[in-house]
Amino acid sequence: METAYKQNLNMSETLMNRINELLSRYPEDKKKSALLPVLHEVQDAHDNWLSIELMDKVAEILSIKPIEVYEVVSFYSMYNRSPQGKYMFEFCKTSPCCLRGVEDLMDYTCEKLGVEVGETTADGLFTVKGVECLGACGYAPMMQLGDFYKEHLTKEKIDQLIDDCKNDKIILLDK
Ligand code: FES
Repeated sequence: METAYKQNLNMSETLMNRINELLSRYPEDKKKSALLPVLHEVQDAHDNWLSIELMDKVAEILSIKPIEVYEVVSFYSMYNRSPQGKYMFEFCKTSPCCLRGVEDLMDYTCEKLGVEVGETTADGLFTVKGVECLGACGYAPMMQLGDFYKEHLTKEKIDQLIDDCKNDKIILLDK
């Protein structure tokens, strides 16, 4: 059974304005079409994860059934259903990256951080995740960290990335 995490709902005016702007791009009876971008906005405004209550809120706003939101959130790895670390190491675990040793690198990272894949460190800094192909197979093994790709990974590069995260030297957003 999944752990039920608590989350404060903060449907701020800024967030609602952004959602309404997204909804305005679709016909009134096709609000569901805005589901993916709306979920991104809501997740970004809530520490990068979506509780059941938040998903229910999104369903209410889009006039769809909650199950339709749960299905999408559980299908796509870019949506998170539990609190995540500030730094999410999202390793691509599709075949080309596996052939280039990504599984060893994930094991190495997990051991170094003291977590299993899918877990977050006790200090809330790091989450290690496995995701499907990120479209950068020519740069395997690779991972996503924030808005950026980290490519041709090695254990030395992982060490450096972890140090840089701990020393607040990593930029996460491409904005
Ligand atoms: S297989 Fe890893 S980016 Fe495509």
